[in-house]
Amino acid sequence: MLVDRARDYDKATVQYRSLSMVTGEGLLTTSGEVWRRQRRMVQPAFHRAGLEAVVAHASSAASALLGRWGDVSRRAVVDVDEAMMRVALETVGASLFGTDLSADADRLARATLEALDVVVASAQVPIRLPAWTPAQRRLRSALEDLDGAVDHMIAARLADPRPPVDLLGMLLEAMTGDDPIPRREVRDELVAFMVAGHETAASALMWSLWLLAGDGAAQDRAAGEAAAVLGGAAPTYDDLDRLPYLRAVVDEAMRLYPPVWLVSRRALVDDVLGGREIPAGSLVIMTPYLAQRDGSLWADPEEFRPERFLGGASPSGEAEPARRARVQADAAYWPFGLGPRMCIGKDFAYVEAITVLAVLLQRVRVARVPGEPAPHAVPLVTLRPADALPLVIRPR
Ligand code: HEM
Repeated sequence: MLVDRARDYDKATVQYRSLSMVTGEGLLTTSGEVWRRQRRMVQPAFHRAGLEAVVAHASSAASALLGRWGDVSRRAVVDVDEAMMRVALETVGASLFGTDLSADADRLARATLEALDVVVASAQVPIRLPAWTPAQRRLRSALEDLDGAVDHMIAARLADPRPPVDLLGMLLEAMTGDDPIPRREVRDELVAFMVAGHETAASALMWSLWLLAGDGAAQDRAAGEAAAVLGGAAPTYDDLDRLPYLRAVVDEAMRLYPPVWLVSRRALVDDVLGGREIPAGSLVIMTPYLAQRDGSLWADPEEFRPERFLGGASPSGEAEPARRARVQADAAYWPFGLGPRMCIGKDFAYVEAITVLAVLLQRVRVARVPGEPAPHAVPLVTLRPADALPLVIRPR
């Protein structure tokens, strides 16, 4: 459905329609020709120069976090959920919109979460609520906040005498070019990227830290790798390839806790999938969570074992003929989706997550809070802990 027959399905589903209450007609939720044009327009922002900027911004966001953690000269308990949301917001803001969002970060993060909250509720109970209900009022106020932040970014950029080459620049160029896109589309694209690129990356990072906090050996190996390659410094883009274990940690965290736990499509034509008839108009829902914890595809699926993703063996850990292993691996592991609608921010997310972990783990050791129950993962827009995610940090 996602790969070979991608053209026979679109995103006009209850989940994506609810999301578009926040993101409007941005890349995340559009379909068909509009989507194809948008994807071509923004793709260059995710090439090498853009990713180099991500490394720089993610590393300053992580360093700023260490600063807020008070130079970690002694043991402290911190909320890793809140911390990673902020790091991810600063990284996405600075990398794609060239804007220093740190001043606005709290307000923006709150507005995004608030809007997404209402969206989740409306996807679960798809009844259009009247405008006067508290939920709709909350949504309106959150959207006003988001729109205010977007206006602020556009105004700041138009006044910038030496604008950086990034997503915002590409969109503004398209707005003033020969075949101009409307301002509304610029707003929608910016909000879509803020939503798609913020909570997802934060979720991958917080679960990575939580899993490392529960596995001292894995954490020592990850921190040791970072120290050996970087010697206490922040990584550059070229360093990232030399941090395979950190990447494997991120891969394994996303296997156990896929940030985007639900992918939905609407069938445009009658189809048959896995022997089941899918009449045109059907809603089809898939989740990588099930495949990625399936005991027939993964050895000891509930265990955190980053080694699964290190060279040689297929991620499932089984010795299979190459083709079968590839096909199986694709179906067994797809935290970024599959096919033409696969995540455009995949490399961005890896670069960000590896950079942030490399900066943090060289300076601090994380541990679980004694007596604190394991966090309950709740399927909101992304897979997030139900409450705060407290961890103990100590200097390394
Ligand atoms: C660990 C982090 C991330 C995960 C797990 C993730 C996951 C996904 C998944 C599963 C999809 C496909 C959804 C579908 O087929 O219905 C997707 C699409 C998308 N993602 Fe990500 N994502 C992450 C980070 C990011 C980042 C950092 C950005 C932007 C900076 C981003 C932007 C997008 C956009 C714009 C789409 C829609 C692409 C299209 O339809 O052409 N994502 N993501």
